[in-house]
Amino acid sequence: MSEGLRIGLAGLGTVGASLLQLIARHGGEFAERCGRPVTVTGITARDRGKQRPVDLSAMQWFDDPVALAQDPGNNLFVELIGGAGGVAETAVRAAIEAGKHVVTANKAMLADCGQELAELAEAKGVSLNFEAAVAGGIPIVKVLREAMAGNEVARVFGILNGTCNYILTRMEDEGLDFATCLAEAQRLGYAEADPTFDIEGHDTAHKLAILTAIAFGTRIDAKAIYVEGISSITPADLEAADELGYRIKLLGVASRTETGIEQRVHPAMIPKSSVIANVDGVTNAVALEADFAAQLVLSGPGAGGAATASAVMSDIADIARGSRVGTFGRPASALKPYKRAAMRAHAGGYYLRLTVYDRPGAFAAIATRMAKHGISLESIVQRRRNPHADAPEHLTPAAPQPVILITYETTEDAIRAALAEIIRDGHIAAQPQLIRIEPLG
Ligand SMILES: NC(=O)c1ccc[n+]([C@@H]2O[C@H](COP(=O)([O-])OP(=O)(O)OC[C@H]3O[C@@H](n4cnc5c(N)ncnc54)[C@H](OP(=O)(O)O)[C@@H]3O)[C@@H](O)[C@H]2O)c1
Repeated sequence: MSEGLRIGLAGLGTVGASLLQLIARHGGEFAERCGRPVTVTGITARDRGKQRPVDLSAMQWFDDPVALAQDPGNNLFVELIGGAGGVAETAVRAAIEAGKHVVTANKAMLADCGQELAELAEAKGVSLNFEAAVAGGIPIVKVLREAMAGNEVARVFGILNGTCNYILTRMEDEGLDFATCLAEAQRLGYAEADPTFDIEGHDTAHKLAILTAIAFGTRIDAKAIYVEGISSITPADLEAADELGYRIKLLGVASRTETGIEQRVHPAMIPKSSVIANVDGVTNAVALEADFAAQLVLSGPGAGGAATASAVMSDIADIARGSRVGTFGRPASALKPYKRAAMRAHAGGYYLRLTVYDRPGAFAAIATRMAKHGISLESIVQRRRNPHADAPEHLTPAAPQPVILITYETTEDAIRAALAEIIRDGHIAAQPQLIRIEPLG
C-alpha cells in the first residue's frame, strides 16, 4: 500500500465532526478501495475545550489553522471552517504554498477568489477539490467536471438551498405565510438565526457561480448574478401557481445565450410535471441540459453533516488515488473571461399579481400598457379578495381586487417598462408581484 494520507483538519463543527465519524467508521474500507490508509493527524477549531462527538486524543491540536496548514505532520489539508476572506482562506493559501492538496466545502471562499486559488494550486501542482461546496451530498461537481467532459452544457439549474425549499414547501402544503414558515425552519435548525443569506438568495448565488464556471468554462463571477430571494412570496402566489399548473421554487439558473452566459437566482414558477417541481423540503436538486447527455437530474440532501462529509470524503478519495483534473474541470488558465448576458434581455413568460382598484377603465389601462410593450397575455384571472365570501356585496365599490396575469414570452426589459408605467398610472394599490416562469421538461 502506498504512503498514507495524513490529514490536517481545520474545523470540527457540523461537517468536520461528521467527517471524523465517517473516517472512524469507514477508514479501513476506504484504504482498501483507494490503496492508501487515511488518518487525521492534526486538528484545529476555535474552542479547544468544546465537547466534540468524537475522540480527538490521538490527534495533535493546533490553535492556529495556518500553523496546521503548514505543519509537515500532514500531507492533505481539509478546510471546514467556512467564510470568505478570513482565516479559512489564509490557511488554504498557506497549505497550497506548502505544496499540499486541499479539500474544502467553502462556497463563499470559492465564489470570492476561486480563480486565484485554482491558479495557485495548479502552479504548485496540487489539487483543490470542493465537491461539498455545492449541493452538499449531491456529487454535481464531479458530474460536471468529469462526466460532462464530452458535452457542451446549455443550461444548469437547480434548487440549491434547502432552507428556502423547506419554507416554500411548508407554505404551499399548509397555506402558511412566509414569516411563520421561516420561524419554524429556525426552530428545526434548518435556518440560521440570521437567515438573510439563505432567504435572499445569496447562498444559492455562491453555489451557482461555482457551477457556472465548471459548466461553461468561464472564470467565476458571483457578482454578475442577478439575485432575488423568496421573502415576497405569499400563500396567494402559491395557490395561484397551483391552479395554473405550476409550483414555485427558488432556482439558480445558468444558461448559454447568444449574448453570453445568463446567471440568475430568483423564485420561479415551474411546471408541476417537471422532476424538479417535485423536490420538496430541505432536499436539493440540480439539473443539466447538455448536447450529448441530454438532461440529467440529481437530487438528494443539500446539507447536513453526514451528507456533506460524504462529499468531502469523495474528494479525499480522488487525492488518495492520484486522480487530478483542472480545478474547474479544465486548467485555470483555459477558463475564459465571463461574458454576462444582461438580465434585462432575459426572455420568458411571467406571472404578475396586481392589486387593481375596482374602478372603470383600470383594467383596460393596464392591458393597453402591456400591449404597448408588445406583451401578449396568455391568461387573466380576477380573484375575489375573499373567495369564501359572497363578493361583490362584501366589497366597497373601489376596493382593490387581485388580478393575475400570465404573459406569453416577452423580455425582462418589456415587462419592467410596462410595470413602471402601470404603477405611474395609479391603478394598482400595492407593489406588483412578478415571478418568472421557467420552461422545464
Ligand atoms: N453544514 C452544512 O450542512 C454544510 C453543507 C455544505 C457545505 N458546508 C460548508 O462547510 C463548511 C463548514 O460548515 P459547518 O456547518 O461545519 O460550520 P460550523 O458547524 O459552524 O463549524 C465551523 C468550525 O470552524 C471552527 N472555526 C471557526 N472559526 C475558527 C477559527 N478562527 N480558527 C479555527 N477554527 C475555527 C469552529 O470552531 P468551534 O467548533 O470551536 O466553534 C467549528 O469547529 C463551511 O464552509 C460551510 O459553508 C456546510
